[in-house]
Amino acid sequence: MSTAGNDSLWYKDAIIYQTHVRAFCDGNGDGIGDFRGLMSKLDYVQALGVTAIWLLPFYPSPLKDDGYDIADYSGVHPMYGTLQDFMDFLDEAHRRGLRVITELVVNHTSDQHPWFQRARHSPPDSEWRDFYVWSDTVDRYSGARIIFKDFEISNWAWDPIAGAYYWHRFYSSQPDLNYDNPLVKQAVIATMDDWLDLGVDGLRLDAVPYLYEREGTNCENLPETHQVLKELRAHIDQRYPGRMLLGEANQWPQDAVAYFGEGDECHAAFHFPVMPRLYMALSKEDRSPIVDILRQTPPIPENSQWAIFLRNHDELTLEMVTEEDRQYMWDTYAKDARARINLGIRRRLAPLMNNDWRKIELMNCFLLSLPGTPIIYYGDEIGMGDNYYLADRNGVRTPMQWNAERNAGFSSANPQQLYLPVISDPEYRRETVNVEVQQGNPHSLLAWTRRAIMVRQQHKAFGRGTFTVVESGNRHVLAYTRCHADNCILVVANLSQAAQCVDLDLSAFTGSTPVELFGRNAFPVVSDTPYRLALGAHEFFWFDLVG
Ligand code: BGC
Repeated sequence: MSTAGNDSLWYKDAIIYQTHVRAFCDGNGDGIGDFRGLMSKLDYVQALGVTAIWLLPFYPSPLKDDGYDIADYSGVHPMYGTLQDFMDFLDEAHRRGLRVITELVVNHTSDQHPWFQRARHSPPDSEWRDFYVWSDTVDRYSGARIIFKDFEISNWAWDPIAGAYYWHRFYSSQPDLNYDNPLVKQAVIATMDDWLDLGVDGLRLDAVPYLYEREGTNCENLPETHQVLKELRAHIDQRYPGRMLLGEANQWPQDAVAYFGEGDECHAAFHFPVMPRLYMALSKEDRSPIVDILRQTPPIPENSQWAIFLRNHDELTLEMVTEEDRQYMWDTYAKDARARINLGIRRRLAPLMNNDWRKIELMNCFLLSLPGTPIIYYGDEIGMGDNYYLADRNGVRTPMQWNAERNAGFSSANPQQLYLPVISDPEYRRETVNVEVQQGNPHSLLAWTRRAIMVRQQHKAFGRGTFTVVESGNRHVLAYTRCHADNCILVVANLSQAAQCVDLDLSAFTGSTPVELFGRNAFPVVSDTPYRLALGAHEFFWFDLVG
């Protein structure tokens, strides 16, 4: 059964914690996180105040792409436990009122998946071969870009068994499914049903823009893809009301918004372009990048919601910025070329902020107060570091740091046995950065994060409210209101490393009293003259505009 509570729009008020089973806690001492370990840490997740957990793929897989290369859609990778362990975890999460979001990797499988094995051995014109996209040449669909450009030179790979090329948008070990074959859609729906029947509350649709290929296009966001999404959504609405589809479409706002359809495709979708602009606004000490991208973002249907994030398990993607801005981001946040990968930056939040907690808090202020459902990446709530000397994106996927003991309390195994080494950088190593230390300090980042989450949870306006920029007369300061029903929240944030003064145009709120949300202190009543505020370096305020 899915979790209690029948609010079908729960995803609008959610705060999501993203983690990987393998990275969180090792319950059996083999050096790899598992469901037993994760279950033992659910109290921690609950105490953080988040309302949902999103788990990266935990299915059987050769792990060439950390599990996004699935070899069996219905099972659990034995490293992480059994299906029963997953179900126990789900029950425990639900018992705590936490919803669970899992991955539905719809675009591709592993080349080890039985569907691919069957396809390559089946005759060329058979429906089984047709589960994937084949060609005799590499000339087809030349308009499609290469996504993993540091690793792949073509979207086609030769299969000697089939004697043909197959199409892949990611690693060549991840052949793309062929949605022109109706059997594929049926098989994907059956997989979706399996997990929804078990009781998961939401499914993240991985790499959803690339389902179809059509000559003469860039093979992204095609109408046929949206048609499939409408079918998946109709199926959910009919059979599993209250569950959620979260679309991963790394696209410009006008294309991303299409993934909501008319409120009949994904319930929620990531807003990718806003993310790099938060970093740009901070380093340029200028609100324009954030304001501009939100102005370019079309309104979304009433029942839909953006999902926003600061960091995740992938590189900080710079696909949705101009070439000039990409170079600026690299020059600013990834001076060392080794920190760059594909079109992005493989670093965590704290190192990106030079471990400046005022900046980390300011970024979290945006995460928790801009329109959308916030997603917190495990470890960022304690300011974990990264290790970009590790291959691929592994440097941001290292073991969670629970305490100062061996393996940071993540595992009792021989340190050499861990799936990845614990961070050992002097500034971020386990003795300095860990949950236990921060739990004992009311001024830690962890304590602050819990507090900020708690404050957010008291006001539906953060999840559901309108967004209106308030003129501040100072480009270093971003001010906006979030209003829902009769509640308005005012956010004022100083992007600069120097103190700033602003005169806010609050004429729409004359007579109301701004009550600061962390301390509950009343500030002077808003009159008909501009509202003057002073802010310290990287300081921000959240006000409830009362009355
Ligand atoms: C995931 C990546 C993955 C890719 C291919 C994504 O967008 O977030 O981690 O490598 O899909 O599955």
